[in-house]
Amino acid sequence: MREGSPKTIYRKEYAEPEFAISRVDLVVSIFDGYTLVSSTLHLNRRSGAGTSLVLDGEGLELEAIDIDGESLAADGFHYDGRQLTIPAVPDDFHLHTRVKICPESNSSLEGLYRSRTMYCTQCEAEGFRKITFFLDRPDVLAEFQVTVEADKAVCPVLLSNGNLQSTRDLEDGRHQSVWHDPWPKPCYLFALVAGDLECVSDSFVTASGRTVALHIYVEAKDQNYCGHAMDSLKRSMRWDEQVYGLEYDLDLFNIVAVDDFNMGAMENKSLNIFNTSCVLASPDITTDAGYLRIESIVAHEYFHNYSGNRVTCRDWFQLSLKEGFTVFRDAQFSADMNSAGVKRVEDVSFLRTHQFAEDAGPMAHPVRPDSFIEISNFYTLTVYEKGSEVVRMLHSLLGHEAFIRGAQHYFRTFDGQAVTCDDFVAAMEQVSGRDLTQFRRWYEQAGTPELAVEEQYDAQAQQLTLTVSQHNPDTPGQSDKPPLHLPLAVGMLIDGQPQAFDDGSMTRTLEVTEARQSFQIDGVKSRPVVSLLRGFSAPVRLKSAEDDATLEALISADEDDFVRWDAMQRYASRVIASRQQDQGLSPSFLSAFGSALDSDVDPAMKALLLTLPSEESLADLRAQTDKVDVHEIRAARERVKAVLGNHFEDRWRDIFDSCATGPYQPDGSQIGKRALGHLAFHYLCYAGGDALGTAQQMLAKADNLTDRLAALRAIVCFASASDRRVALESFYQRWQDEALVVNQWFTVQATRPAADAVEAVRALQQHPAFDWRNPNKLRALVGAFASANPVAFHRADGAGYELLGDAIERLQSANPQVAARLCAPLTRHARYADGAAEAMRRQLQRIAGLENLSRDVYEVVSRSLEQD
Ligand code: BES
Ligand code: ZN
Repeated sequence: MREGSPKTIYRKEYAEPEFAISRVDLVVSIFDGYTLVSSTLHLNRRSGAGTSLVLDGEGLELEAIDIDGESLAADGFHYDGRQLTIPAVPDDFHLHTRVKICPESNSSLEGLYRSRTMYCTQCEAEGFRKITFFLDRPDVLAEFQVTVEADKAVCPVLLSNGNLQSTRDLEDGRHQSVWHDPWPKPCYLFALVAGDLECVSDSFVTASGRTVALHIYVEAKDQNYCGHAMDSLKRSMRWDEQVYGLEYDLDLFNIVAVDDFNMGAMENKSLNIFNTSCVLASPDITTDAGYLRIESIVAHEYFHNYSGNRVTCRDWFQLSLKEGFTVFRDAQFSADMNSAGVKRVEDVSFLRTHQFAEDAGPMAHPVRPDSFIEISNFYTLTVYEKGSEVVRMLHSLLGHEAFIRGAQHYFRTFDGQAVTCDDFVAAMEQVSGRDLTQFRRWYEQAGTPELAVEEQYDAQAQQLTLTVSQHNPDTPGQSDKPPLHLPLAVGMLIDGQPQAFDDGSMTRTLEVTEARQSFQIDGVKSRPVVSLLRGFSAPVRLKSAEDDATLEALISADEDDFVRWDAMQRYASRVIASRQQDQGLSPSFLSAFGSALDSDVDPAMKALLLTLPSEESLADLRAQTDKVDVHEIRAARERVKAVLGNHFEDRWRDIFDSCATGPYQPDGSQIGKRALGHLAFHYLCYAGGDALGTAQQMLAKADNLTDRLAALRAIVCFASASDRRVALESFYQRWQDEALVVNQWFTVQATRPAADAVEAVRALQQHPAFDWRNPNKLRALVGAFASANPVAFHRADGAGYELLGDAIERLQSANPQVAARLCAPLTRHARYADGAAEAMRRQLQRIAGLENLSRDVYEVVSRSLEQD
């Protein structure tokens, strides 16, 4: 165990900073093996503050320190490796420091580090303190001027935030660039890049007619992979102007692609830094899903320029203020660019399987957490995805027009400030005139509320009564939670047809505020089938016990994409759970499935409708009432797939043939066809026939990664061990120079649903293409294994857990953030039957016992073990 427990930070202990920093001048001089950072801060004591100054600074080698030109004596300051304290400082002064840091040996990928041939930074949340001394907190906003110096041959490109002010050559083959960012910002938005990079350029003319230069910097080998991100960026810029009235605020916008990156991408002011996996695209290295993901991440980081940068967070507890809101904004954007229904179903499916599981486990926390040990652990599905759902509910409650006015009011009122989630809700209150006091509970309560709806129909009075009850189960540290304010969107079907309400509308939004509450709906001519929670209008578990006929009616006739998909998921989950498969599936389920097969929805939506609930989501459902046995779940689901594959074999074949596409285009129509065609192919694999022959053909003639991977996956799952090896080897030979494709190749093997995938993953950890320092590779191999291969991960002898435990042990001090994230599958131990749960806890205990345990991993592991 680590020495002494690390300190917990509480939201209620927030205090304003004691000093303001109006201006920062940095000179960053990069040398081979070390970097010197010289900093001048202009500080001002704020009223009421004490005499001493305390700055954050982690692992810095302090070489010089002076105040207003007077160097400090050794007893005039104290630095303990984490904080610099100067006992007495003037009210208004310049503090100059020079520190030495070592980006080459920085394996945490926080602060300034070296990745392959380039130097780059990652400062959010608290990485700036690894570069220089500062008040490393988001409510200290300063104007930055940055001089970057390096050897011109090694680092011809030198970038930082804002505008390029000057460049010049120095002695000894070195050169410098001076950057100035006119917008005051918190230091977490600081960025610097130096390296040998190629620049792909374009431009954008804003609504008011200003021309903005757009640059994407990549390694030379990746120059041809920037087109899609550039197009996505221009679409995002236009969209934010058109929908929110927000225009870009500088003349330059840069994106840099880096291969070693803990996250997906980062919104540093005018210098976004992206994981290569989230920006590079071409048909050979990017899947259809990848193209869509890149579009939405580019948009997300761009949208932060307002929701996050111009208006930022007061403290890290308010993280969802920028992240939840920006996820909502990027989801709106993607819905507008592509199919809104498909995007919504995909997002809901993701939230329900993963965020619901987080909310049901030991790491459950509110959208605005109350405490943390390490903030990096709180970039969670709850803060992001549930946070976005909370903003979406505001959008439903206020309506689009008022919501946009509220957002504009928020951006105007708080421009240049660091604010709270409360401020955001208050802005929405002001424009709409609505009281959102109760709604604010969504920010306070952890856990997934359960919603039950009883229906009563009075034929005489032509009246439908819906009685809604809500209950939010206890979570660690929270019980007896008061009711929430939520929008419940409902619709009706009568005689199998969508039915309007008496005011002519097809959907009505009920505002639920009580623990139990009835709503009367008049003018209902006969008993309807009720369509509940349209569009997934609130992030709740809907507990309803519809009969099969109701589900079938919703699947075949409801107008709402989410409701139709959800009805199919419920029906299929019920069938899978009921062991019905042993006797063959019921005619009514087959008929519901058949009607989805025949429906005339677009292919992408149809593919979603016909995809069985994932093993993960079946596990989440099961965990509501019982212990989870992943092997049993998988077996049952596979049996249902086999029945459906055989029963509808001819239809699958027709679909597969009709979904053939021409030369690859990552557009909506082709993406949908491929999704449906691949699903049909997947079912055909269960129907026997010559599916493997088809897979070999697909692999041979594919002109894109999506087809290639679908074929490779089928071969890996269904073919003999020797065919599998041949296919994997030739795939590797062909694509070994494309790191992102090799990552997919790792994942295909890590997720092969067989017990001996454990040994396969161990062997791949020795493969020359694997690299323990690269987060993408760790996620592709170890992360995918633990989170997406239940059969192997939960192997009865515990070898899967041990594999993960070993990886975390190896990583935890080198890269604490990535190691802490890898722990997630182990934190779900309470879901599983005794033997499995105990074996998982043994791994957690073993990690807890490590020496020099990082704060990140300590927090996750100790929280997970506290519960029992
Ligand atoms: N600000 C984050 C990136 C970040 C998170 C940096 C945590 C450091 C610590 C960025 O805006 C973000 O949210 N990125 C997401 C992708 C996004 C599309 C949800 C990511 O990196 O996964
Ligand atoms: Zn973000």
